[in-house]
Amino acid sequence: MISIPGYEIGDLMLSDEEIKARIKELGAKITQDYAGENVLMIGILKGAFIFFADLVREIDLDIEMDFMAASSYGSGTTSSGTIKIKKEPDVDPAGRHVILVEDIVDSGNTLKYLRDTYFAEKGAKSVKICALLDKPSRRVTDVTPDYKGFTVDDQFIVGYGLDYQEHLRQLPHITYLVEK
Ligand code: IMP
Ligand code: MG
Repeated sequence: MISIPGYEIGDLMLSDEEIKARIKELGAKITQDYAGENVLMIGILKGAFIFFADLVREIDLDIEMDFMAASSYGSGTTSSGTIKIKKEPDVDPAGRHVILVEDIVDSGNTLKYLRDTYFAEKGAKSVKICALLDKPSRRVTDVTPDYKGFTVDDQFIVGYGLDYQEHLRQLPHITYLVEK
């Protein structure tokens, strides 16, 4: 039984079966939309690692896969628009159709910078966003995922790759934390 000091793990929000079924649909949609194209899929570490692994196995296309890591800095718990790249992708995105795979879009600051500045400057042919979760109530940018699994309320989500201070990523389902 996993416990986190000061918090209670909430009720089940999305079961592993529900997540799996939705990812099958997302994979089929991407397969259809990019038929005949060469796609570069980039998983945003670390939160997307489980989603990425399940998603790519539902895509019936010749894709290249890579990872990158970015973090946003702000005061305290609020994220800012200042994004730092902590790991660059190895594959050159110039002239490529890129799909950024993210665990959750919150403020949208990270993906705004990656899509409109980082990959735009590197000359990507197109950049789309595939996010497992969307938390639109917190958005401060114009970022909307092109492919999204589920919309969630403004709660602190954990599981299926999403962490609380590096804990709880291994939960097979999606749940949330409540302060005790
Ligand atoms: P954004 O730049 O504010 O959209 O930040 C998105 C990143 O913040 C995600 O990739 C997550 O790593 C993290 N994040 C945002 N909301 C949550 C949450 O509810 N649980 C866990 N991580 C979150
Ligand atoms: Mg993340």
